[in-house]
Amino acid sequence: MNIMRVEAKVGRAESEPAEILVLLHCEGDGLAKMDAAQFDKMLGGALQGLIHSKEFEGKANEVLLYHTQGKVPAKRFVFVGLGKKKDVTLDSLRQALGHAVKRVRQAKVETFVVALPTVMPKSCTLVEVVQVMVEGAILGNYQFTTYRSEKGSANDVSGMTILTSQRTQLRQLTEGIRRGVATAEATVLVRDLCNHPSNVMTPTRIANEAKVVAKEPRVSLKILEQKDMEQLGMGALLGVARGSHEPPKFIILEYSGAKKKDERPVVLVGKTITFDTGGISLKPAENMEHMKADMTGGAEVLASMRAAARLKLPLRLISILPVAENMPGGRAMKPGDIVKTLSGKTVEVQNTDAEGRLILSDALAYAQRYKPTALIDIATLTGACVVALGQFAIGMFGTDGKLKDAVRKAGFTAGERVWEMPLWDEYFEQLRSDVADMRNIGGRGGGMITAALFLSKFVGDCPWVHLDIASTDWSERERAYIPKGPTGVGTRLLIQYLIDRSL
Ligand code: BES
Ligand code: ZN
Ligand code: ZN
Repeated sequence: MNIMRVEAKVGRAESEPAEILVLLHCEGDGLAKMDAAQFDKMLGGALQGLIHSKEFEGKANEVLLYHTQGKVPAKRFVFVGLGKKKDVTLDSLRQALGHAVKRVRQAKVETFVVALPTVMPKSCTLVEVVQVMVEGAILGNYQFTTYRSEKGSANDVSGMTILTSQRTQLRQLTEGIRRGVATAEATVLVRDLCNHPSNVMTPTRIANEAKVVAKEPRVSLKILEQKDMEQLGMGALLGVARGSHEPPKFIILEYSGAKKKDERPVVLVGKTITFDTGGISLKPAENMEHMKADMTGGAEVLASMRAAARLKLPLRLISILPVAENMPGGRAMKPGDIVKTLSGKTVEVQNTDAEGRLILSDALAYAQRYKPTALIDIATLTGACVVALGQFAIGMFGTDGKLKDAVRKAGFTAGERVWEMPLWDEYFEQLRSDVADMRNIGGRGGGMITAALFLSKFVGDCPWVHLDIASTDWSERERAYIPKGPTGVGTRLLIQYLIDRSL
């Protein structure tokens, strides 16, 4: 998909020539307070009329298109509701722009102008407001049409202009646009990678995608092949890959944006299972196709790498992708098999479907060599996460209060909120094995917790956060700026965390 062009412009609604002018409006708000008062005067009070007749009330997600009949330079305007003023958040704005862009597309119009809202969400900066407007528009415009012979109504909106009446705001607008484009285009990359089916998006193809990202300035790439992993002793990752004909990959990208070259890095680790059949502990057929997105975590750390480079963030960042396909082939691991991990710890594999924690255990152990100042892993790890949190929260675990706070804050700003779960050692008894150092499943209760606790045994003592995104990685229905299918949720959180660190 081509990413929409976004620009800032100084101008006024009533004199702006546009195919469509988008106006955001709060419920119960008088027009007098609106920037659009002059605009409405020229329209002969049409806006007032719509509000009085309750044809448009400004409720959240309400959308109305109106032809201006040549009374103003803009041919049409689209009114989008923001809900009650006191309830307006950054995410209301994202959603409003998501709805707006869909209406523009429906009208078969390619570009539109949007006026800055007159209300600001509480304690937010103009840069943030503009950033989320850009995110809503680009992400609401997302479609995956690669495999359709007939593109049908799949026309994309190609440009958006954000209008301000104050020239002094231009710099903030430009910065907001820069950030919004970076987080949104990263999310688009993740959605694309996860939408491609597993017969295309194999571990080898992921390695090729990493090579493309490595073309960004200051990014370098190392790919470990199967024989390298054997030499190192990554028995857990190799164990998972055994059942597949697709060779596994271990991908390390490094971005050197820090002034001091040897600054301790932020390390991101993402679960990259290009398809999870469950292996010999085979999954049921129903909904198994969702498991092409079991690589979401890896796609997100890859996209975050690209965003950090494009934003020229002043930090050192390392992204690690352990990549494999989990298949029940003739040489596949079997329940009861014991593998030796890179850390030296042995694991009894009681269930081959708990493969994410296996590949991550080797990746987390590998990450230790970089002495991370912060280590964050992100993974579609457990069905238990879906059961516990539903669709709207990411499961968070961690060993460091400050890092957890920073991730929580980034999630809030990004509209990808996390909810902390306990990482108490009492749960570890569920992971004891009779024959190895530990087993890879924790029995009945607390499935999300025992999975996280398993990972915690491989992170040494560096500040660490684990994010379980099995709850949010796939959406059953289309929302304002979330499509049906792979969502890319988690990407904006990671990039926001990196931006916050750099400020
Ligand atoms: N990839 C799945 C987790 C998952 C489930 C992600 C649903 C997205 C939606 C993971 O590898 C898995 O299969 N986990 C098992 C672990 C169990 C065997 C302990 C699970 O959650 O059922
Ligand atoms: Zn699995
Ligand atoms: Zn999995």
